[in-house]
Amino acid sequence: MKVQTPPLPKGTRDFYPVDMRVQNHIFNIWRRAALKYGYEEYEGPTFEHLELYTGKSGEEIVSQLYNFTDKGGRALALRPEMTPTLARLVIQKGAELRKPFKWFSIPRLFRYERAQKGRLREFFQLNLDIIGTESISAEADLISAICAMLLDFGLTENDFAIGISSRRLLAAFLESLEVADANLIYPILDKSLKMPAEDFEKELLNAGLNDEKAKKLKAFMNCRGIEEIKGLFEWQGFSELEELFELIKIAGYEKSVKLDLSVVRGLAYYTGIVFEVFDKAKNMRAIAGGGRYDNLTETLGGQRISGVGFGMGDVVLADLLREKNLLPQSNTDLPVFIASFKSDMKILFKTAGEFRKAGVACSHSLNAVKFSKQLEMANAANAKCVIFADGEKTKGEYFEYKILSTGEQGCLTWEKIKEKL
Ligand code: HAM
Repeated sequence: MKVQTPPLPKGTRDFYPVDMRVQNHIFNIWRRAALKYGYEEYEGPTFEHLELYTGKSGEEIVSQLYNFTDKGGRALALRPEMTPTLARLVIQKGAELRKPFKWFSIPRLFRYERAQKGRLREFFQLNLDIIGTESISAEADLISAICAMLLDFGLTENDFAIGISSRRLLAAFLESLEVADANLIYPILDKSLKMPAEDFEKELLNAGLNDEKAKKLKAFMNCRGIEEIKGLFEWQGFSELEELFELIKIAGYEKSVKLDLSVVRGLAYYTGIVFEVFDKAKNMRAIAGGGRYDNLTETLGGQRISGVGFGMGDVVLADLLREKNLLPQSNTDLPVFIASFKSDMKILFKTAGEFRKAGVACSHSLNAVKFSKQLEMANAANAKCVIFADGEKTKGEYFEYKILSTGEQGCLTWEKIKEKL
């Protein structure tokens, strides 16, 4: 009986070379932007002790864990996010790490969630975090970096928007309403934009608010600027929010940000500013999300060290870039293909060796096939030029060549040929 090949697991992806080229493009721009902003790269293991996540990250993410018991009986989980690992790294080195510091990572993450457009069970997520400062400048740095990298991808201010809110502001407003349990209200606010106004009100009443408080909360949620909110209640924290918008404006990205009180964020550890990045048409799931978490290290058994950061997944971003036609041509770009008139494998290996020693990427046929077949292979590999290893004039530093885009042929040193590519 013929064995059936098991299919690709649900919610995962294969990365054929054409997909890897897209992936590398995204990672390159992410990495370049993070380095340009002075973030240093770090990594951790893909699995951690289960208890690093349970109870600390918020209900949703915990219900989405891929967890297992290993052969030594340890309860482990594939990492669903990077922030708890980062907190563990920070706790372990404690005072040794000079703070504040800015780190980034591009982890592969796993979440057992319903696979759908923009949400998979295995994905990559750029993380930028700043540890050890309570200054609002950290939020401004992160949000500017998001804008800079999205523009680097070729997106414009018309393509994305960053909604900024503050857990502290929400908490203060709920306190002013004398709401008994704010934790019951957050999930409703989080969903507020996705449900009809009547349902929103119904849910608030179900959560124990009376008519008047529900109305006030609705008015609050409809505010589109800090000035408007100031008219609703008194609060010490407005100046910090104003400073954040001011710094983002000075960085040149004010058009990309707005106050958006419906941004609540599902994760339990956020304590201050929270933000989410959306495509402007709002057709897609969030491109990125983050915020300030001042108590995470303490919750995980360390000292209290404040942090702020965000995660940007590769899935929605790639969808958006594809929609806007901003993904690179998925061609290989091999500079050199080496061919032999005599289909002589020895001379192919010898010449290829010389080119590679000089740092030039090249390939050649591994079968002794006809010359015309070798040219076909060079075209299929999208090579920029073909070097004729045993051309009549090929000698010493000089190589017979053909530039594939123009058809130009000749005999020159590699230095000269390179100028033509
Ligand atoms: P998050 O909101 O869970 O936050 O994820 C951030 C981003 O990761 C999302 O906006 C989305 O782009 C991507 N993402 C999340 N889940 C999936 C999925 N199933 N498939 C594809 N992409 C997904 C966090 O993870 C926080 N730890 C971010 C953070 C870093 N906060 C502070 N520092």
